[in-house]
Amino acid sequence: MARHYFFLCSLLAYSFSGHVIAAVDYQVTNTDSATPGGIRFTNEIGIPFTKQLMGTINAFIWTTVFQQTNPSDQKPITSVNLYISDLKEDEGVTWGNNNINISTSYLQEYKGNLKLAFTSVLYHEMTHVFQWDGEGHAPDGLIEGVADYTTLRANFMSPGFAKPGYGGKWDEGYAVTARFLEYCDGIVPGFVAKLNKKMRFAYDVKYFQDLTGKSVDQLWKEYKAKYGQ
Ligand SMILES: *[C@@H]1O[C@H](CO)[C@@H](O)[C@H](O)[C@H]1NC(C)=O
Ligand SMILES: [Zn+2]
Repeated sequence: MARHYFFLCSLLAYSFSGHVIAAVDYQVTNTDSATPGGIRFTNEIGIPFTKQLMGTINAFIWTTVFQQTNPSDQKPITSVNLYISDLKEDEGVTWGNNNINISTSYLQEYKGNLKLAFTSVLYHEMTHVFQWDGEGHAPDGLIEGVADYTTLRANFMSPGFAKPGYGGKWDEGYAVTARFLEYCDGIVPGFVAKLNKKMRFAYDVKYFQDLTGKSVDQLWKEYKAKYGQ
């Protein structure tokens, strides 16, 4: 019942601001609960907190990042499964339609506030569940950039998150692309939401031009110039 209780809180909170949040079921499984990382998850994060966080992030993605208050604009996701499971190399991964794995090795080795770091990774991975990717045609760098843009908007960036103006190309990915998307958002309010909406069925780099009147290369040049690079 705890899961539904926490979900209800965010549901109520968002109905007051006029948004409708469809019911999504959040499942969390600690598959490696006896390992050091699994034990640290239980002690410092826990399943109830994680389920509540998934509801908060889901609502944030729909309302603030993608501005999909109309359910017909949202990706039709009815459940998200999160596994605490060893991944060796990555912190987290999103796979299939609606599955996320967070690595026990990562949780075990992280130095610092684990709850904050876990929250940051979850904002990123949850974005992958709910974002459009042009039916698989959007570049990986843009997909990863949008996911990091969510952590940036939520103010849960990882400690080494790139500063504005940093990076070699617009689709380098992660924080570099997230900072560039933040800049585009400054030119056209709701840029990321609009770009995501355009990527529902296809992808074309011209979407940047459609939305801003400038090519992505021109935008990147002006972005770099703004920060003196
Ligand atoms: C995620 O964890 C589950 C449960 O341990 C496992 O079955 C699945 O293969 C993992 N997926 C990836 C991509 O690691
Ligand atoms: Zn990612």
